[in-house]
Amino acid sequence: MATRPIGSGAEAELERIREGVPHGRFPAHVFNDQEIFDVEQERVFAKAWCFLAHESEIPNRGDYVTRYIANNNLIVARAESGEIHASLNMCRHRGNMMCKSEMGNASHFRCSYHGWVYKNSGELVGVPYMKEGYEGRLDKRDWGLIKVRTETYAGLVFGTLDPNAPPLDEYLGGFQFYLDLYLKQGSSGSEVHGPPDHWVTETDWKIAAENFSGDGYHTPVAHQFGFNLGYFASSGSTHSQGWAASIPGRGHGIGLGHTPGFPPFAGFPEELADEMRRSLSPEQVEVFSQTRTAVGTVFPNLSFLMQPFSIVPGEAGVRFVTMRLYHPIGPGRTEMYSWCLVPKDASEEYKREAYRAYTLAFAQAGTFEQDDLENWARVTRSAGSNMARDVEFPYVMGMDSVPDPDFPGPGHVVKPYVNDSNFRNLWSRWSDYMTGRE
Ligand code: FES
Ligand SMILES: [Fe+2]
Repeated sequence: MATRPIGSGAEAELERIREGVPHGRFPAHVFNDQEIFDVEQERVFAKAWCFLAHESEIPNRGDYVTRYIANNNLIVARAESGEIHASLNMCRHRGNMMCKSEMGNASHFRCSYHGWVYKNSGELVGVPYMKEGYEGRLDKRDWGLIKVRTETYAGLVFGTLDPNAPPLDEYLGGFQFYLDLYLKQGSSGSEVHGPPDHWVTETDWKIAAENFSGDGYHTPVAHQFGFNLGYFASSGSTHSQGWAASIPGRGHGIGLGHTPGFPPFAGFPEELADEMRRSLSPEQVEVFSQTRTAVGTVFPNLSFLMQPFSIVPGEAGVRFVTMRLYHPIGPGRTEMYSWCLVPKDASEEYKREAYRAYTLAFAQAGTFEQDDLENWARVTRSAGSNMARDVEFPYVMGMDSVPDPDFPGPGHVVKPYVNDSNFRNLWSRWSDYMTGRE
């Protein structure tokens, strides 16, 4: 996809931002800025691998969901062959949107304007008045839906608009080690528990991506009710313990919060903990059995969180996983998608309980979700003000932290968990993309 040039002043400003990141400086205005939004659409979202769907959302032939990469609406469908295809949701005849539902099952899509018909894999198979009207001038093979390149990792389907993007494995760059905690909770992997919660928020996607790349700093303050009322097993005095892990040069990061004395894999049913000990590597078991909270972001806009949450305050927490996607729809505006992921082979009882814990904490009306969104919307509004154009934020926490030599996982891993290391890595990657160094 051709990228539009921007003014030399804007290019110089992006270079200046990039130079500030290793020194722990990042400007406020990028979190609510029309020009930044426009450039991100082309230089970040049209270049990176972007999350489209979890395979378990479309388990049967004909199942589809519609999702976005940048402002492009895509049909992500499981074809008759069982393969997953992503196609631009735009009729090749005059551009009508083919599929108006967010999810469903269809072997074919018929355009509601002049009636062209496509297979769910994107091939054009039906054209009204083909013989009489086109007189042999239209070859259906040339006019299928525009295809988007896809690859999968452990059930996650990603797409990229960039034919030169590296393979997904290389793009993830070792972050798979951490993703497995959410995606390989047992030999059959994970699945979504129901459709995603989906809503629009006055929040810039980058604030959410940063928070979920390991902001343990806000938890005792923004979510203090969780500590005080017994929903969440941590305390203000020990909350900073654990690790911040990031993949240098890739932008992905995860915070691994640790509560001293926490039993291994606390909050999982015993049989599930045993299954994880079998299905994960010894290094992964060593890290994850100690982890209370694992909150991570795959650059640019896909995040995960796993933690125990007490359905009844004071009682033992139930471990749940949420996966969330932040789709930018304007400067300071984001469509949020939030799923609950459960191990495929877990008991129905555990799946129900995990979904309840997720709903209470992180679904659209979840308590933690509301705490976060209220703060994020105010950050976004402030970032769009005139005076904010000259404001920078300090990202200097943990500038001198040295990597933990005993940590068995990949990447740049520092202690404590409360640290800006992951955020510097995230904004460094963002700046690379924004200045064309992806
Ligand atoms: S726009 Fe689809 S058939 Fe004409
Ligand atoms: Fe939060």
